[in-house]
Amino acid sequence: MMMASRGEGVKLASSMMLFSRSFSTAISRGIIAKEAVTAKAVECHGDVVRKNIGEFWVRGSVFGVRHGSTMSFGEKDQQKVEMKQTQSVAEGGDKEEKKEIASYWGVPPSRVTKEDGAEWKWNCFRPWETYSADLSIDLKKHHVPATFLDKMAYWMVKALRFPTDLFFQRRYGCRAMMLETVAAVPGMVGGMLLHCKSLRRFEHSGGWIKTLLDEAENERMHLMTFMEVAKPRWYERALVITVQGVFLNAYFLGYIISPKFAHRMVGYLEEEAIHSYTEFLKELDKGNIENVPAPAIAVDYWRLPPDATLRDVVLVVRADEAHHRDVNHFASDIHYQGRELKEAPAPIGYH
Ligand SMILES: [Fe+2]
Ligand SMILES: [Fe+2]
Repeated sequence: MMMASRGEGVKLASSMMLFSRSFSTAISRGIIAKEAVTAKAVECHGDVVRKNIGEFWVRGSVFGVRHGSTMSFGEKDQQKVEMKQTQSVAEGGDKEEKKEIASYWGVPPSRVTKEDGAEWKWNCFRPWETYSADLSIDLKKHHVPATFLDKMAYWMVKALRFPTDLFFQRRYGCRAMMLETVAAVPGMVGGMLLHCKSLRRFEHSGGWIKTLLDEAENERMHLMTFMEVAKPRWYERALVITVQGVFLNAYFLGYIISPKFAHRMVGYLEEEAIHSYTEFLKELDKGNIENVPAPAIAVDYWRLPPDATLRDVVLVVRADEAHHRDVNHFASDIHYQGRELKEAPAPIGYH
């Protein structure tokens, strides 16, 4: 293994030498030489055309070629890879300047275009991950708590609602944003625990790891959307950090002790989320909350029309919550029947 690594290192050093001689112009600056290299690559993937344009600057010593290759072996103190600013937009959309990170590792920054040829501006999700929410889902479905564990999960969620109502009252935009910071935790914790279980037991997960991680990502996209319309204050950020510290650990332990309780509780949390978004819609319809244009990230993620408004966003988010409710109550039911999640095919892509 060591031999192979060293061999590849020598090859890499040689290729860097050739690469440098062929394409770079070294400028002496004391013992520093700067090499600028522009690499272009175009790659097709289905109907999406990706144009990869990598532009990077490598700074090294006068023996820059050799050191350029050895940087990969850890001599980073002698070398610096600079970031070259190119154009605007990163994960945060059009608010941040995009910085392309230089690298000779052959991993060019990707460029994705929409069907109409316009540049896809989101790095946090890609066109093939977008979807149209199923708004026809039954929003009133409720799991009647039957067992002691069900009742405990139900009343725990009801009890959590009391301080939430007190804190946020009718500030539904802010409430939604804050609650999404919590809602994105269970899927990640459950998915991670199932992932570890799959590794420990040398067995498949039935797709549940992906389903739960997708749920976490979907909830995080809710947060990315609502933070465009409601900016958290310093004490709300502090609250998020505190709540995350407590909730993440509590849910982690809860899931290990009783996954059927953990999923049931999330099912009831989702029922409450549906209620919260219904109240949000009422406030929008009364005019108490301004029905501003939908954030651009929401328009692309849920494939909304260009003139979509905040109301349209709340409708699709509420539909998502209803789907999460079904998935988590279903997962709990599987456990209640004495089965494991992997025995029932996971509802991957259930939106
Ligand atoms: Fe959510
Ligand atoms: Fe949810």
